[in-house]
Amino acid sequence: MKTKTLHYKKQSIGVINSTLDSCEKKEVRDMLVDSIKYKDPTCILTFGGLNMWDATLFFRKFPNCRIISIERDPAILKAQKKRIKPIYNRVFTMHYEFSNFVDQAPHILGNDLDLAFLDFNCVLSRKLEDGLEKFLTHVNKDAIIGLTLVAARDSVAEIEDTYCFQEVCNCREAIYRENRSKVIAHTVKALGKRNGRVVQQIGETKCYQNREREKNEFGQEEVVRVGTPMMFWMFRVVK
Ligand SMILES: C[S@@+](CC[C@H](N)C(=O)[O-])C[C@H]1O[C@@H](n2cnc3c(N)ncnc32)[C@H](O)[C@@H]1O
Repeated sequence: MKTKTLHYKKQSIGVINSTLDSCEKKEVRDMLVDSIKYKDPTCILTFGGLNMWDATLFFRKFPNCRIISIERDPAILKAQKKRIKPIYNRVFTMHYEFSNFVDQAPHILGNDLDLAFLDFNCVLSRKLEDGLEKFLTHVNKDAIIGLTLVAARDSVAEIEDTYCFQEVCNCREAIYRENRSKVIAHTVKALGKRNGRVVQQIGETKCYQNREREKNEFGQEEVVRVGTPMMFWMFRVVK
């Protein structure tokens, strides 16, 4: 993935920008939409991002649905307004860090949430785990949860920040490295179970990585995979 730095008045923000937004992530969004049991979902939660691809697609598919988009970065929040003018008034954009949002979730979501695409695109941290645990208590039966995280590179610092093997899932770092997708899926299910929710993983974990053209040692162009892979899981809260 390429990291593009956007310069706003006072800040510069590293934004993970990639072709994933437009093509491979579209596949992920379509899978989410196809998995919803209700033809007419009541409420969908997305993570903003600059272009709000998710909110736009979900709005087109479900024009009567309440779509809530949270974004923690004020500069991105401001920029969204210009970029998604056509649907801006139809989406509730909110300035929230996910962990703070979950505390307000019962008031904001009611008991209506049918789909959430938690497109974090970062490494799972203890803070995210705590947020996820609370979040899972607030969703509808049969709600679909999409989750993206980046598969941490194996540098010690990033692994140290990856707490998913603590408390709900005990395994050594080496095992985690080899079985990341299973360990994280297990963690999400275990976080639900703590509060009596039954969370099932639906479908295989998908792993995406940007492709770029590079010249090989013979000067021929070939497609190589570059950057940190992004992983996608899809869950259904069955109880
Ligand atoms: C990968 S982008 C989302 C792109 C979006 N899915 C779309 O359709 O365009 C992730 C966005 O979520 C925001 N974000 C990441 N972690 C967050 C968190 N914990 N709370 C709130 N926003 C977060 C980031 O600032 C970023 O803008």
